[in-house]
Amino acid sequence: MVARILNQPSDPAAVPDSPSGSLSFDAPLGPVFGLIERALEERRQQGLYRADRVSRVSPLTDHSTNDYLAMSSHPEVIAAGSNAAARWGAGSRSSRLLGLSHDLNQAIEETARGWIPVDWAATFLQSGFSANLAVFDALVKTLTREGSTVDVIIDHEAHSSLFAGVRQRERSWKVLPFRHGDWAHLDRRLAGSTAAVRIVVVEALHSMNGTFADAERLGALCRQYSGTFLFVDEAHTFGLVDGMFWSFCDGIRQHLDGVLIGVMGGCGKAVGVSGGLLVTPHLLREACFQFSRPLIYSTSASPFVLGAVLKSLHILSGPEGVDRRRELQSILSEFESLIQNLGRQKESWDVHLGQCRPTSIRAPLAVIRHRDDPGHAQRLAALFSESGRFVPYIRPPTVPRGTERLRVSFSLQHNVESFVGLFSHCIAVSR
Ligand SMILES: Cc1ncc(COP(=O)(O)O)c(C=O)c1O
Repeated sequence: MVARILNQPSDPAAVPDSPSGSLSFDAPLGPVFGLIERALEERRQQGLYRADRVSRVSPLTDHSTNDYLAMSSHPEVIAAGSNAAARWGAGSRSSRLLGLSHDLNQAIEETARGWIPVDWAATFLQSGFSANLAVFDALVKTLTREGSTVDVIIDHEAHSSLFAGVRQRERSWKVLPFRHGDWAHLDRRLAGSTAAVRIVVVEALHSMNGTFADAERLGALCRQYSGTFLFVDEAHTFGLVDGMFWSFCDGIRQHLDGVLIGVMGGCGKAVGVSGGLLVTPHLLREACFQFSRPLIYSTSASPFVLGAVLKSLHILSGPEGVDRRRELQSILSEFESLIQNLGRQKESWDVHLGQCRPTSIRAPLAVIRHRDDPGHAQRLAALFSESGRFVPYIRPPTVPRGTERLRVSFSLQHNVESFVGLFSHCIAVSR
């Protein structure tokens, strides 16, 4: 029935003309609308309905932002984007491989190459989402070509773009999730895999838990099982530490040499613009250009984005970048001590701010969860909102049921003292 309905528009002769001569879609689409409406209703019933809210929140009180270093409002970044748009036009006009690749793409990639500690290549894509799709398009097409088996062993709480990338229709390519942060579980997955190649997939800084992956453990585990490689999503860490790339842990060069197969650095978070920078061996970059759908079939990033990203990367890799990162870290450590000072006042609440073990770098996002009643976080979000602060309430399917939480991100523009003052007030009135 569904197949018949969905096939109908592809047969123009079967679509009746309306009396006015224009096509009437009401009748054939009625059952389709019914299916859509029932799916939406189920979402509503589950309390999971999302709303596309128009943001009127000032950056000073918006704790959903990933613009950790406030680069999106940097005057030089805006000017560089505007100049590029004035010079090259508002849009890029075609996909990178259909038209001519804009030389600003190459300029970004050359700039990034300077920070990669090995002779690898960078590839800039429209978004982090497309970069993650792109790299797995290339891996699946090349690694399984001769019938080799590949097991992708992925953090079960990994970002949706990573799942979109790894879920490929290829019989010899299997996806096996492992529990977030459970390295023993990952070990069992690796031990049980008989595939010729294994690819472990993690986020350097988990976007919803605020936890850092452990480079040393990951490196050791991958090395234990030959033919095992690691792909790291650095959407939330790229630009956040000195050195820019492979940043989630200083020890990454020691621990992951020969194991790492690629990294995705996000340009829509700390870099403040948009886009995803894939960092891979040259050969894998070549494969991306042959097989990756987002590079071949999607309009490439606009000149504004390219100009702004290039400028932001220049600033972040210079002394101003160092200062901005230092300032952010000092805001985060102030947050931590203010939260500690709340003592028993916050006893029903867990407030977690991730810290990278070897580098002591703090995550620019905190997770707040109620110890007994996960749903209570939604009431807290409402109280924050009544006081003019936007603190997103994160619920399934973004995070597992029972782990509903507030995700509080911090940027250079935030005043953590007033945030903690308000938190203390909200938990008192929500009791
Ligand atoms: C971990 C992670 N990877 C990838 C992405 C996708 O990046 P983009 O927003 O640039 O598409 C996000 C976005 O939030 C993310 O959090």
